[in-house]
Amino acid sequence: MKKLIICLGVLGMTFLQAEEGLDMKKALETLHPSGNESFVFVPSGIQKPELFEKLKVTNFYSGHFVGELDLLHERFVNAMIQMGNDDKEIVEEAATELVNLTHRVLKAQGDDNCIVIFRSSLPVDWFAIPRWHIDGGNKLNDQVPPKFVITLKGPTTLFQPSNCDKSLTFVQSRDELDKKREELALFYSMDDAIRPKNCEGAFFIIRNANAAVHSEPDVTEERIFMSIMSATEEEIKEIRSKIRAREEEIKEIQSRKQTQELI
Ligand SMILES: [Fe+2]
Repeated sequence: MKKLIICLGVLGMTFLQAEEGLDMKKALETLHPSGNESFVFVPSGIQKPELFEKLKVTNFYSGHFVGELDLLHERFVNAMIQMGNDDKEIVEEAATELVNLTHRVLKAQGDDNCIVIFRSSLPVDWFAIPRWHIDGGNKLNDQVPPKFVITLKGPTTLFQPSNCDKSLTFVQSRDELDKKREELALFYSMDDAIRPKNCEGAFFIIRNANAAVHSEPDVTEERIFMSIMSATEEEIKEIRSKIRAREEEIKEIQSRKQTQELI
């Protein structure tokens, strides 16, 4: 009898996960570069959202997990420890949820590799003035699949309605966008802003005329955020070499600084 209950439980869970994968896939079908929608909120399929409420944030953390999906679990565990968590059981369970979520997103996108960004933040006033922007507004490409984001704890990402005027957000550089930040904050109304719930996912169009205008929220509480971008093997290689070059650059700067200090 006990075995039967366990079997039914597992079957139910698998069915639920498959359904949620289906929900994600259906939702993604509403996002076309030439369509009316710029973003769509989707159930993430996270089984225990309360785990993420229990996670502590005592440090800022930012990690890029580029490909190597078989190492994801370990990377999530290490990241959550660095964020300030020491409850192994919570960290392990939360990492399993996040690995499963990554696979659901990839399945819905029909891709087999990705770049995951995982971040924690303490309260900061950096986005008290919202940073309305579109991702990759200076590198347009209709072939890039939508991006997935989710806030696991704390304030969630803000989106402007799909039909808002996007012309002001197409800029050539991050500097240009920063200069326009106050202008954009006056142009877009906070009353119009739409945000997903905690542990609810959002897919949104990037690098396109129909890209979603969005902003980081005002981070008034501890926040844990994650994004998933599908990537080809080629892109993964390119990003890895960029990260490696940047790390080398940082090492070089640090060693030069140390030499100067010794002189
Ligand atoms: Fe963004």
